[in-house]
Amino acid sequence: MENTTAISIKISKTPHSRIAECDFDNIQFGTIFSDHMFRCDYENGEWQQPKILPYGPITLAPSLSALHYGQAIFEGMKAFKNQVNQPQLFRPLDNWKRLNVSAKRMAMPEVPEEIFMQGLKALIDIDRNWIPTKEGSALYIRPFLFATDDFVGVRPSRNFSFIIFTCPVNSYYPKPIKVLIEEGYVRASKGGVGFAKAAGNYGASMLPTLEAQQKGFDQIIWTDGLSHAFVEESGTTNLFFVINGKVLTPNLHDTILNGITRDSCIKVLEHNGIAVEQRQIAVAEIIEAAEKGLLEDAFGTGTAALIAKIDAISFRDKTYQLPPAEGRKISNLLYRQLEDIRTSAAEDPFGWVVTI
Ligand code: COI
Repeated sequence: MENTTAISIKISKTPHSRIAECDFDNIQFGTIFSDHMFRCDYENGEWQQPKILPYGPITLAPSLSALHYGQAIFEGMKAFKNQVNQPQLFRPLDNWKRLNVSAKRMAMPEVPEEIFMQGLKALIDIDRNWIPTKEGSALYIRPFLFATDDFVGVRPSRNFSFIIFTCPVNSYYPKPIKVLIEEGYVRASKGGVGFAKAAGNYGASMLPTLEAQQKGFDQIIWTDGLSHAFVEESGTTNLFFVINGKVLTPNLHDTILNGITRDSCIKVLEHNGIAVEQRQIAVAEIIEAAEKGLLEDAFGTGTAALIAKIDAISFRDKTYQLPPAEGRKISNLLYRQLEDIRTSAAEDPFGWVVTI
């Protein structure tokens, strides 16, 4: 329930919608952008007039501090159509809260709830026809906040821009993924920014991921930065494993992103009477289970990736094949029930869905 005052948003609609050019049956993730974006700047210690304007390039100074020092954070969320064609959002307040957790860690101003929520709803309302309805598709929403000081010196910026744009998408991974357990590179360490959705976390993961992709893998499984003995998350998702009937996921701490899909999976499983153990998970435990044929399921969870089933896990030059994707009880149950809640094909016992 929102408990905020209404804000005034200056709306300039595009005179030329691009929607007729969008082939909704063949969308490649992250390549098509809807007609409008929301923008609100932070200057002189205050949030300025929020605006909705046509999606398009923005002017940036070469000295823009976000580009040099990485003071930039983002969120990922999705809008869906319900059974009577109304747009709806999934757990938007949780994205707003997490954005501000990231903002605090990165010495950035928190985005007020009314700017985030009302800007988001107005944007989705205006571009409601861009929400695809095919199974597994959605309108991906990218809110982000970045430092805009025109200043070359290392200190927190004083000016920021908060922007939300959207893109119609299908699933991030078209098929089950092959992953490599990484023991050399480090994604995050204690006291760092691993729990924040900071742009730099993703920048630092590009080379390790590229190297894994050159060896034929889709993604990396990051291990802890000290011992490399425990799994943490993948480059784009949190992780779940099902070993001998038990569902496990790494417990949250400051090197792991507090995934909203992760949390939704835990709650949906518990609602189905299936317990989830949130604890440290040793690489050795996964490998031993795989060797004994007890690794029944493994998957990544994320807004973009939804439930990304893992087809095979490689560790130290050995590859462990997982059971066929179609027969997996836990990941199939989660995919179906989450998809049905998001589109209101099933009841939402958690109060997660916000209809616009
Ligand atoms: C998301 O799932 O929304 C993310 O932000 C992950 C991103 C790497 C696509």
